[in-house]
Amino acid sequence: MNEAEADIRHAGATSGFGRLDTSFPVVTAVLASYTERAAAPLRGWRVLAVQHLQSSTLPLMEALCRAGVAPGDITLIGKAYSTRAEAAEVLRAQGVRLPGSVEMDDPAVSYETEIGAVVAAEVARMARNRWAGRLLVLDEGAIAGRALLGHPDLWRRTHVVEQTTRGARWAAAVPRPFPVVDVARSEVKQHLEGPLIAESMAAGVRRVLHELGQGAGTLSLGVVGYGTVGRRLAALLAADGHRVVIHDSDAVATAAARGDGLSTDDLPKLLHRAQVLIGCTGVPLLDRTALIRLPRPLVLINGASSDIEFPVWTERVPSRRLPSDHDSPRAPWRHHYTLAGPVPHMLAAGGFPVNFYCQDEPIPAPRFQVTRALMLAGAFQAVSQRTPGLHRLADSAQIMIETAFRELT
Ligand SMILES: NC(=O)c1ccc[n+]([C@@H]2O[C@H](COP(=O)([O-])OP(=O)(O)OC[C@H]3O[C@@H](n4cnc5c(N)ncnc54)[C@H](O)[C@@H]3O)[C@@H](O)[C@H]2O)c1
Repeated sequence: MNEAEADIRHAGATSGFGRLDTSFPVVTAVLASYTERAAAPLRGWRVLAVQHLQSSTLPLMEALCRAGVAPGDITLIGKAYSTRAEAAEVLRAQGVRLPGSVEMDDPAVSYETEIGAVVAAEVARMARNRWAGRLLVLDEGAIAGRALLGHPDLWRRTHVVEQTTRGARWAAAVPRPFPVVDVARSEVKQHLEGPLIAESMAAGVRRVLHELGQGAGTLSLGVVGYGTVGRRLAALLAADGHRVVIHDSDAVATAAARGDGLSTDDLPKLLHRAQVLIGCTGVPLLDRTALIRLPRPLVLINGASSDIEFPVWTERVPSRRLPSDHDSPRAPWRHHYTLAGPVPHMLAAGGFPVNFYCQDEPIPAPRFQVTRALMLAGAFQAVSQRTPGLHRLADSAQIMIETAFRELT
């Protein structure tokens, strides 16, 4: 048992969800600041959370409960590719509902489709229940936001916090009939979480390249998407000695890459130069039709979220799987695949973000608490937000979290 597992088991063995006060001072600081005036500001609220279910989820859930939410009123749908069984066990023992699955029904379809269906079913269940209370949603990629659009009866009592840029962009583009607090694009999330994600992503890239026999020597790496994640990841991989070429559809991001001393190219040229393609965009980049037109094989790596960057899901069948130590046919994130057709591209980690490919949690819980603390602050802000639409995370919350996190590190 490694240290993180021991921590989680310890948390489960003692009362409560974890060791909020002793190990998670940033989350604790947020909780204290919002419960100063009202002891249980979230009493009577239901929570629907779509989240990476890891050990750092425990202090966030514990904080919600300390703020008044009953554990039985929390429904947490963990992303299958990032769920830690030990953390799920602790939450289940506390009475939290965990309807998600840790495997896919069918790896040959998009994971977004599968998790979208689970979340939609939960939202429909809530709508059917004729329950009159209010709903706090902690969303990832606007998966719950999309499902809620089909239930106008829930809109007036729903308050949302969004964790990802992809979800925030969706929320900015459609009319939102409920308040959405945009944690994703808060400055503090970008500059405190960004380096943590990039480091964990670089570790995942190194690992999959090694497993795919590309670990030694200098490679031509094409990084598409020079945003919060891509920019930092590119710097780390360039420091490893690789030739990194950037493509971004945004002129400002492209200029930033050049300013950082990296070469940039349009996508067709980059695809001809690169041996490895790393998608850091949050949107579908290359489908099968585009891939089979390329002159030589690429290693395809997702440096973003879910299995979005390379929509080649039908290739995730046992016959296309590369040999591995894992016996998990319905967990495509544990396998690498070769794509059918004239150009044998390799799809690393089933097209899922490679920072979750490693066995251990990609970012230790005490550091990833910064994101959990931001979501907690977003939750407190969301429940008091009356106006539908997208709301920036309050500066005061950002300053408090930054200060507490800096003290920790
Ligand atoms: N796996 C994780 O742990 C983790 C953590 C944080 C963020 N993410 C995900 O990483 C992705 C990127 O996040 P970010 O914060 O860097 O976003 P960002 O918005 O800062 O950067 C995305 C960049 O991609 C560019 N882009 C978008 N579409 C493009 C296209 N078709 N071609 C070329 N460039 C394109 C944009 O111009 C932008 O510069 C998101 O999907 C996010 O949800 C994953």
